[in-house]
Amino acid sequence: MKTVMVVVGTRPEIIKMAPVIRALQKNRIPLTFVHCGQHYDYNMSQQFIEELNLPSPDYGYKVKAYSQGAQTARIIAQMEKLLKKTSPSLVLVEGDTNGVLATALAAVKLGILVGHVEAGLRSFDLRMPEEHNRRLTDHVSTYLFAPTPTAENNLKKEAVWGKIYVTGNTVIDAVLQHLPLAEQKSKILEKVGFSKFALVTAHRAENVDDIVVLKNFLEAFDEAPIPVVYPMHPRTKKRLRQNRIYSKIKKSKNIQILPPVGYLDFLVLMKKCELIVTDSGGIQEEATAPCIRKPVLVTRLSTERPEAVEAGFAKVVGIEKRDILKAIETALKNRRKLPQKSPYGDGHAAEKIVEIIKMELSF
Ligand code: UD1
Ligand code: UDP
Repeated sequence: MKTVMVVVGTRPEIIKMAPVIRALQKNRIPLTFVHCGQHYDYNMSQQFIEELNLPSPDYGYKVKAYSQGAQTARIIAQMEKLLKKTSPSLVLVEGDTNGVLATALAAVKLGILVGHVEAGLRSFDLRMPEEHNRRLTDHVSTYLFAPTPTAENNLKKEAVWGKIYVTGNTVIDAVLQHLPLAEQKSKILEKVGFSKFALVTAHRAENVDDIVVLKNFLEAFDEAPIPVVYPMHPRTKKRLRQNRIYSKIKKSKNIQILPPVGYLDFLVLMKKCELIVTDSGGIQEEATAPCIRKPVLVTRLSTERPEAVEAGFAKVVGIEKRDILKAIETALKNRRKLPQKSPYGDGHAAEKIVEIIKMELSF
C-alpha cells in the first residue's frame, strides 16, 4: 500500500506540519506519523501534539544527545531502521533542524522519495547549523515545497535536482486554524503581570551559546522601555544556569520569564503584545499573518526570511545591546501601518502541498 510518512522532531515542525497532517487525513491518504525525538520535554513536544489535536505518533523516540553530530547520527540510524521496516512511498520533512537532515539522508540512501516542506530558505550565514541542514536537505529532496518566489529562486540558483513548487508557508495555515480556539481557551493573559508588553524569545545556538551575546540580550530586555514577557527555551535556560545568571535574571522587574508555553498561549501573546523581539524563524513568519500583524525585531545578523523584512514587518537589528534598545524605542515611537497581506501565503499552503503529492504519486 502507498503511504506518506510525516516526520517531526521539534516544536516548530509539529506546528507547521499540523495543517499538512490534517490535509492528508482529509484526502484519506494513508499516513504514518513519526516523532524522531529531537525535542523530548513534554512542553517542547507532546504538549503540541495534544493541543493541536494531532494523532499520537505511530513511532516516537527520544534523542538526548548534546553534540550536533551525535544527535544527527543517532536520528539517521533510528530512521534508517524504521524506513526499512515501513517502506513509505514518500517521506515529508519540514524546515531545517538536525532531525530533518538526518531523516532526509536516511530516506534518500534507501531510495525513498523525500518531500521538503519550507524548502529554499537561505540565511547565507554558515555559522548556523540550520543553514547546513536546509541546504543539504534541499539537495536530496525529490519535491521541494518553497514557501515564496524568493525561496524558489534560491533553489533554482543552486540547480537542485528535485521539482520545485511554490506553495506558501504552512505556518500561516496554522495561525489561521488555531487562533480562534486560542482566543477562546487560553488563560495566559491572567498570568502576565503587564497590560502592555513586548514578547521576546531567544534560542539560536549562535546567539545563546555565546555568553557575550546572551548577556547583551538580557541587559537590553532588563533596560527596555517596555516590560518584557519571555517564554524561555530550555537551551537558553541551560546556558543561563551554566553561567550562574539565571537567578539574577529572574529578579528583574522588567522581565517576566515563563516556561516554554503551548501554541494556543503563544498565539494569544503574539496577538496581544506591542511588538516582538526574537531570533526565531517561525515567529518572524507568524507575525505577518493577517490576524496577528506585529512588528518584529530580529536579534540576529541575518535572516532567511527576507520577505518579512521587505513587507515592513521585520527588521534585523543585530546582537548589540545598544542597537536592540534603540530599535525597541524606535519601533514603539514610530508605529507603522503594517500590510494586510502576508508574504507567506493565504493559509492554504498545506492543501496545495497535498494536491501536488496526490498528482505526483497518483494517490
Ligand atoms: C532546534 C533546532 C533549531 C530550532 C529549534 C526549535 C537544530 C540544529 N536546531 O534548536 O533550528 O529553531 O530546535 O525550538 O536542529 N532541550 C531540552 N529539552 C528539549 C529540547 C532541548 O532540555 O525538549 C535542551 C537540551 O539541553 C538540548 C538543547 O536544549 O541539548 C538544544 O536542543 P536541540 O534540539 O539540539 O536544539 P534547539 O536549540 O532546540
Ligand atoms: N512557540 C510556542 N511557545 C513558545 C515559543 C514559541 O508555541 O514558548 C511557537 C511559535 O508560535 C512558533 C514556533 O513555536 O510557531 C517557533 O519555534 P522556535 O522559535 O522554537 O523555532 P524556529 O521557528 O526558530 O525554528
